Amino acid sequence: MQTKLLSTLGLLLPFLSGVVQANVEKTIFLAPAPATIPSEQPALDDLGLERLSPESPVVRTWLNASFPTTAAPEGTESWFFLENLNPGQRYEVRVCWLATQPTSFTLTTYPLSKAIEDTSLFSSLSVYTAARLATLDTELQANSVSRHASLGKSKDRLDPAPASDSVLFLRVHAAADYFSTDQALMRNVPPVAVDLILDPFLFNVFPRSLLPTAGYIVVVAILAVFLGRWIVGEVGRVIDDARRQRSLEELMKKK
Ligand SMILES: *[C@@H]1O[C@H](CO)[C@@H](O)[C@H](O)[C@H]1NC(C)=O
Repeated sequence: MQTKLLSTLGLLLPFLSGVVQANVEKTIFLAPAPATIPSEQPALDDLGLERLSPESPVVRTWLNASFPTTAAPEGTESWFFLENLNPGQRYEVRVCWLATQPTSFTLTTYPLSKAIEDTSLFSSLSVYTAARLATLDTELQANSVSRHASLGKSKDRLDPAPASDSVLFLRVHAAADYFSTDQALMRNVPPVAVDLILDPFLFNVFPRSLLPTAGYIVVVAILAVFLGRWIVGEVGRVIDDARRQRSLEELMKKK
């Protein structure tokens, strides 16, 4: 019964993604093995990236976007940090945005080592963090410093050795996807309001947050089967009645 249910859900998956594609883009990945984050390196906290983790899976923010150019065919990029992942577990990250801001997004995840060793990735990550740190106001900077200090403290308490965590960098490209007669809109693309959502898969098969939708569709499908059977039965009964009535009429005529 359970495998049947799971395979039904599997069949419904393409249908679900078809329905929501209008304003959702996503990437699916397996959480990597824990990587050691050397404590003497510039702390990752100092990058000023927004973070997603199973404990805080939703970030609501604004992303800079631009029209595609030959130099940046996928538009403007933004970086995020995924942390405290469960190694080997399948996750997806979705970006949801308003249909009133037509944008095409591309999401890619990179392991820590790849983001640091690949020079082009590292330079684009650096450019982004520099721009972000420059725009963070002093209050936010104070926040991130105190956050860093408390993180250091809890690390000391738990384990004095370098921290080890399953982490990934997430790169989000945002390309404007509209045409407007408004000259200002064509010159300057306004930032796009988005929700970024980190969602673990149940049994590495099914995104957990889509379960209510899938349950609803399964209930509707089961109802449809019963309703269909009932309709077929009723129609059959009507036909039988008509047939019976006709043979009765024929019998009467003969008499
Ligand atoms: C987003 O765009 C604004 C305006 O062009 C710019 O000042 C800011 O630095 C950009 N943010 C990032 C993170 O690149």
